Formats: sequence, structure tokens, C-alpha cells
Amino acid sequence: MSSMSATAIASPNIAFIKYWGNRDNQLRLPLNGSISMNLDGLFTQTTVTFDPAFEMDTLTLNDQVADQQATSRVTHFLDLVRKLANTTLRANVISKNNFPTGVGIASSASAFAALSLAATAAIGLELSETELSRLARRGSGSACRSVPGGYVEWLAGQSDDDSYAVSIASPDHWALVDCIVIVQVEHKQIGSSQGHLLANTSPLQYARVEDAPRRIRLCKEAILHRDFETFATITELDSTLMHAVMMTSDPPLFYWSPATLEIMTNVTRWRKEKALPVCYTVDAGPNVHVICEEPVSETIREQLLQLPGVLQVLSAKPAGPARLCTTLDNHSLRKL
Ligand code: DP6
Repeated sequence: MSSMSATAIASPNIAFIKYWGNRDNQLRLPLNGSISMNLDGLFTQTTVTFDPAFEMDTLTLNDQVADQQATSRVTHFLDLVRKLANTTLRANVISKNNFPTGVGIASSASAFAALSLAATAAIGLELSETELSRLARRGSGSACRSVPGGYVEWLAGQSDDDSYAVSIASPDHWALVDCIVIVQVEHKQIGSSQGHLLANTSPLQYARVEDAPRRIRLCKEAILHRDFETFATITELDSTLMHAVMMTSDPPLFYWSPATLEIMTNVTRWRKEKALPVCYTVDAGPNVHVICEEPVSETIREQLLQLPGVLQVLSAKPAGPARLCTTLDNHSLRKL
């Protein structure tokens, strides 16, 4: 048998209603559903090759041999694929991001979405979008949301079978732009996987999770009706609720820096005082995702660049689903 190879591309996503805490850590079953948008122009491209001659899995990340921790996370994930395909073949995985690492764009989402698609295609499995999303979830929770296209809802579900993401609107349904404001090129913080384990130590987590179905409903309706005001209010509330949980967990996690807060307060002020369609959301780091409607995105970008501590602003529109690449596409990895 000769080697079997496939290449896939997936975009990261930004959550408007956040995933923070699992009901089952092993299966990555979340305590609440979440809603996100895939980010266009940013992507992970991953090539997986299975070969009978390989004695172990190997991983190259951004042209460097990956460390033991990253490699064993991938091996653990490939074990799931091997089980599905009923094989013991080992793989070589080559993965590249076209966006800078350590700037607060969660690369595990695009990484595991691309890996799910490339690995299953390479081994000869044809999974449905739902099956692929369920599989990607096992690698990184948020990765299940990078499998379908555009605006996406992760249905929390009760078990491995019914916890997956679906598209709720196509990328062209609503021209939103995520202006990713870099205030700090991260030094290593507590990552999401460790953070999820701490979520339940906060006395606020119960209230956050209890209210999640209401926030999901409002956010989804706001997206479907392109109702920016409702969308902004619920997106900012959800982000701050997650950070309140983070700040009150044991040990506490403080991801905001003074520049983060400065951007948050200015963004809300621009919306209230200047009636601009703009709001913010913050993930597990100090950088701010400023979400606005496309017509004002250049103005917003310029205003953001004036604020203290802002190093860089990257802009992303809604992106499509994870997809397999042809050999022609393989030359398309463009550095930002
Ligand atoms: C704050 O999906 O990165 O970005 O499943 O452990 O890989 P793992 O966690 P991950 O958590 C994402 C946390 C978040 C919120 C979100 O994207 O919903």
C-alpha cells in the first residue's frame, strides 16, 4: 500500500456567544451552546499523509517540528480518526497558519477543523458536515464551529451524537467585519483548555450558563434580522459575563489589560454617542475583536489605530466552511 494524502483549509472563528466550561471534558461537551462567525482571509492549511512506513505520528507547525505537547494532542485526535477508519496507520501532519500566532486569534479552531477534514479524506472516509463537526469538537471545542460556513451555532447537545455546529446564515447574509485589535503579542497565558477546567469554580458560572439559552435566542434572531443594536448589546454582555466568570474562578484569570478596557469603553461610546454600528467581544487574551458593519469598517479601523496601546488592526469578513484543497490551491497560502 502506498501513502495516502489530503490537504484541507479552515478559518478560525470569533464567538459572539461564548463557550466556557464543559459538562464533559473528555468528550468536550459544552455547558452551553455558542454562536460564532468564521473569519475570512485567515486560515490554517493542513496536509495529512498516512503511510505504512511511518512508525509514529509527526507534526510540523508553521515550518517547525512541533513540541511533545502539541504532537500528543494531535496523536490523541488521530486515534479517533484511526478508530473510525479501523486502521493503525501513522501519519505525518504539516500545518500552517497564514495569521500570526500568539495574537489572540484562536488557532486551535481552524487547526482542528482543517485536521479533521484532511485526516478523514486522506484515510478514505467521507463524513457528512455534522459528523465532521462532531469529530472536530473532540480536538478543540470551538473547532466544531469552523466546519460549517458563515454564521454558525454550536448546539450544545446532551451527548457525543448531538453536540455539533450548524450554519445559521451564509457568509453573505450580513456584511459584518471583525476588526481584530492587537494590543499585545502574547506571552504564554493560561490557555482555553485549562480555563474550561476552572469555569465551575466561579460562583458566577451557574448564572452565566442558566441564562445562555436566552442569549443564544436573542443573538440568533439579531443575526437573522440583521438587527445590530440587539446583536451589540447581547454580544458585549456575553463577553463580559465570560470574563466575570474568568476573574472570579479559582485561581482567577485576568485577561484584560488597560488597553483592552480603553478599547471596550471607546467602542461602546462610539455606538451610543455617534450611532455607529460597532461593538466588542474579547476572548481568552487581551486583544479585542471589534465587530462592525462593513460600510463603517474603514472609519472604525482608523479610530482604533488612534487609541493608546493599539499595535495593529487585522480585518476579517465572514468566511465559508472548511474545505478540501486541490493541488492548485496548495500554492495559495498567503502571508498576511
Ligand atoms: C474564549 O475551543 O479553544 O475562545 O476545546 O480546550 O480547545 P478547547 O477550547 P477552545 O475554547 C474557546 C474559548 C473562547 C470562547 C469561544 O470561542 O467560544
